[in-house]
Amino acid sequence: SHSSEYNEYRLQQHPLSLEANGTKSLPQAIIIGVKKGGTRALLEFLRLHPKIRAPGPEPHFFDKNYDRGLDWYREQMPPTTVGQMTIEKTPSYLITRDVPRRIFEMSKNIKLIVVVRDPVTRAISDYTQAISKRPDIKSFEQFAFLDNKTRLVDTSWGAIKIGVYAKHFEKWLQYFPMEQFHFVSGEELITNPAQEVANVQKFLGLDRLITKRNFHLNGSKGFPCLRKFGSGKPHCLNKSKGRPHPRIDPDIIERLRDFYKPFNAKFYQMCGRDFGWQ
Ligand code: A3P
Repeated sequence: SHSSEYNEYRLQQHPLSLEANGTKSLPQAIIIGVKKGGTRALLEFLRLHPKIRAPGPEPHFFDKNYDRGLDWYREQMPPTTVGQMTIEKTPSYLITRDVPRRIFEMSKNIKLIVVVRDPVTRAISDYTQAISKRPDIKSFEQFAFLDNKTRLVDTSWGAIKIGVYAKHFEKWLQYFPMEQFHFVSGEELITNPAQEVANVQKFLGLDRLITKRNFHLNGSKGFPCLRKFGSGKPHCLNKSKGRPHPRIDPDIIERLRDFYKPFNAKFYQMCGRDFGWQ
């Protein structure tokens, strides 16, 4: 999915980013997660802002490419001019142990953005992505439970583990104060993108240039598409985003909701926002 996401980026490349002048900078803000939360949508929306520049692909610097060094990381960034901000997104950062410390060592003042989504829907989305690549894998419930009798949740399954946001976020708070984080509701990013993106622009200290005029609801899929400034035709994310999910038995969903309930409550408390995942 990385390469298809990258093509997305190329289609939307801002004309000014082709300018030869400008130098590359390390990011001043990073979208650190969460996988399947709506991170691509958020990045593509933010890229409409003339003061934001971002690489298309996920650099995976702080988790997979750390040995390549900061010069390599900077090289992955697009050139920027004075007053422009560099942003990247790599959703695996949120859940990777060494990443908070490594980011802190690069820049202790960095702004960190987390797109979160109901962990149950997120797990199903994650599973949907996995079956799209390997259609022969086990069923969702076979992965989710240790056995079908007790229905104890298999917390070692990645799709489940990623959704325990409070546990992951705790590690970040050992390095950064709360003021450096901003949370985006993955649900609201779909139903009310202009408001969610307004909050992010405010957090980043940018003028509110991206407004409801930049969003166009795609009737067929039900997801907002983006409309660039001075351009008529809306651009939707590609087909790997907003996939139809397989039907999961309501009992199974209920069981998972119970599992996540205390972790969600803790997370709401930590970040001071109730995301309303019931
Ligand atoms: P689904 O495909 O399960 O619906 P990420 O980019 O972090 O992998 O997140 C993918 C999710 O972004 C999609 O999951 C979809 O629900 C969500 N999303 C949010 N806004 C979207 C938009 N405007 N277009 C398509 N998908 C969007």
